[in-house]
Amino acid sequence: MAKPKRRYVCTDCGSLASRWQGQCVDCSQWNTLVEDAPETAFSARHDLSSGGRAVAFELLDAPSEALIRRSTGLAEFDRALGGGVVPGSAILMGGEPGIGKSTLLLQAAAQMARAGARALYISGEEATGQVRLRAARLGLADAPLQLAAATSVRDILTTLAAGPPPALLVIDSIQTMHSDLIDGAPGTVSQVRASAFELIRYAKENGVALVLVGHVTKDGTIAGPRVLEHMVDVVMSFEGERSHQYRILRALKNRFGAVDEIGVFAMEGQGLAEVANPSTLFLSGREQAVAGSAVFPALEGTRPVLVEVQALIVRLQSGATPRRAVVGWDSGRLAMLLAVLEARCGLNFSSAEVYLNVAGGYRLTDPAADLAVAAALVSALADKPLPLRGIWFGEVSLSGEIRAVAHASLRLREAAKLGFDCGVGPADGLKDVAGLHYAGLDSLPKLVDRVMAAP
Ligand code: TYD
Ligand code: MG
Repeated sequence: MAKPKRRYVCTDCGSLASRWQGQCVDCSQWNTLVEDAPETAFSARHDLSSGGRAVAFELLDAPSEALIRRSTGLAEFDRALGGGVVPGSAILMGGEPGIGKSTLLLQAAAQMARAGARALYISGEEATGQVRLRAARLGLADAPLQLAAATSVRDILTTLAAGPPPALLVIDSIQTMHSDLIDGAPGTVSQVRASAFELIRYAKENGVALVLVGHVTKDGTIAGPRVLEHMVDVVMSFEGERSHQYRILRALKNRFGAVDEIGVFAMEGQGLAEVANPSTLFLSGREQAVAGSAVFPALEGTRPVLVEVQALIVRLQSGATPRRAVVGWDSGRLAMLLAVLEARCGLNFSSAEVYLNVAGGYRLTDPAADLAVAAALVSALADKPLPLRGIWFGEVSLSGEIRAVAHASLRLREAAKLGFDCGVGPADGLKDVAGLHYAGLDSLPKLVDRVMAAP
């Protein structure tokens, strides 16, 4: 038999190459090719006369089992999952090292154990003593959670086969697991894939909810194995700035629910605390109106979250190329908005440095943020503060029109509830909400007039 050929896989886009190269030919990323398991020659053809079984087709409306969900004991975690964990499903929990994945899962597993479910926590990174210490600090030492330190998938599966299947199995992390069916060190693509495959098969066959922790690299991909993302049912991402207190749990893929719900937590001395009303957290410390600050009612799934957008404009004396720096928003979108403000409203940003920041490390993806960013920019340029208790939302088109956005009345109601008294947005027939006066604008020049007219 011919020697199997080596092959290489790109950890970013998953494309295969027959030899190692510094740059992936498909996605042009550098240093992403790693060795993969060799390809097995496959030229056989099925003999249809024996061995095969007919597959039974079913209709969509055939009776099926109701989807059961089990609460993790953390309402914010349940919300991000779409209502709790589903038995027999695999969840990949991605996040940067140190963000709090182990803490979150220890808390959830301990809560489930307290509620009477059999929950197992297997750590490949920390000794059981370390995990126990953390549990004691979190006030969870009394939970009947079962703890083990192991990295061999064979040992883990042997142990699991000897007892009743748990309701929840946490593997922290998949990059430390090792399957002896495959060559290579833990953390390589083929090891991660093989280990995950074996564990997921066990979970599916035994109705276990499996959580695999996966560290992500700086650019946000789950280290190495993008492949894991199609093997699991749910991909969660745990995000936040390590220097800030709060963390956002987001579903990037969910076979059992929507992917637009988030869970919000604050990392405190006693572990992760649930934040039921995130707006108060993102807006804390805003006491007086300053130029360049605008509040935007963002929508995360069905939940409005009020965040502060801050802009700073610095006029340059010399002819140096001005900087544009953005934190928490898309820099391409900022360039577009600046161009629209210049072309449609006659404002001049070309000789000024523009800095934009979304307070507290929050990342905005909602297109309705355009108007809040525009208001912050105009306010910073004119050095005129916006009303302290005002909100701004709407999508801005290249022609300078202000377009309608989804769930406008929900945004207004949330702002009114938090004591905001004026709202500016698209002119699409929205009404005042209890205590909040609404002004609809149809174009960006009108927004500029409004900001400039302030005392
Ligand atoms: P950890 O859960 O170990 O992160 P990960 O598993 O994602 O790598 O969390 C580590 C950080 O969380 C650590 O830097 C300290 C902080 N932390 C707290 O601030 N309070 C706490 O109660 C705990 C347990 C951790
Ligand atoms: Mg950890």
